[in-house]
Amino acid sequence: MTDLHCHILPGIDDGARNPDASIQLLQMEDRDGVNQIVLTPHFNSERETVEEFCQKRRRGVMALAEPLQKSGLKIEFKLGAEIYFSPALPELDLKKLCLSGTDILLIELPVDYNPGWTKEILFDIQMQGFRPLLAHVDRYPYVLEHPEMLYELVCAGIYTHMNASSLLRKPHETKQMKKLIGWNLVHTLATDAHSVHRRPAQLAKGLEQVRHWYGEEMVEGMIRNGDALFAGKEPTALPEPTEPKARFSLFR
Ligand SMILES: [Fe+2]
Repeated sequence: MTDLHCHILPGIDDGARNPDASIQLLQMEDRDGVNQIVLTPHFNSERETVEEFCQKRRRGVMALAEPLQKSGLKIEFKLGAEIYFSPALPELDLKKLCLSGTDILLIELPVDYNPGWTKEILFDIQMQGFRPLLAHVDRYPYVLEHPEMLYELVCAGIYTHMNASSLLRKPHETKQMKKLIGWNLVHTLATDAHSVHRRPAQLAKGLEQVRHWYGEEMVEGMIRNGDALFAGKEPTALPEPTEPKARFSLFR
């Protein structure tokens, strides 16, 4: 089982503060059955260069190496980044930010407003030969309100994941997320884990919720899709997306 998105590398962003905290999060992942993890610290092109980010990430890897070896955990890692959306993205050296050994880029959109040109910028990136994976589509109010936007993106070859922990909220908060999953607009789940107490790794619980809503086949599909993306392959384990249907012009 794969976790494609987490902030487990120590001392880099608002995730694990030190190697001990990283190991605790990794033990949580291990207990959930996760054996492949992409380490994806935040990258914001308005705050740092790609080179500065890569140096910082290397330091995190070095800090974790010894404690990891001592922990005895059997997890396979890849490096990546959670790239904050910007119209400047196509100008950057994006190859260095890909999930290592692949052409997949984990990209997050702003949470509090719908940026213009999302589709165009992502298309521009695709034209350069990269494949965008949209981070936590459960977190954008404008996506939840306008699922047709997500449908268009998925049909255009954009991959998506939801945060496992978001699915554990109260039913009225997860109602729309459940629909997005039902329309096959969510390829897989990831943890976006930051810390054991505030934002823990909860992949197994999130998948359990999907199982409760849609059964084993959907869960298996999401797990296979996560594994496929880790290997740089297409996530094809779920059926084609269904176009969200408006009812009384509201997506409810
Ligand atoms: Fe994140």
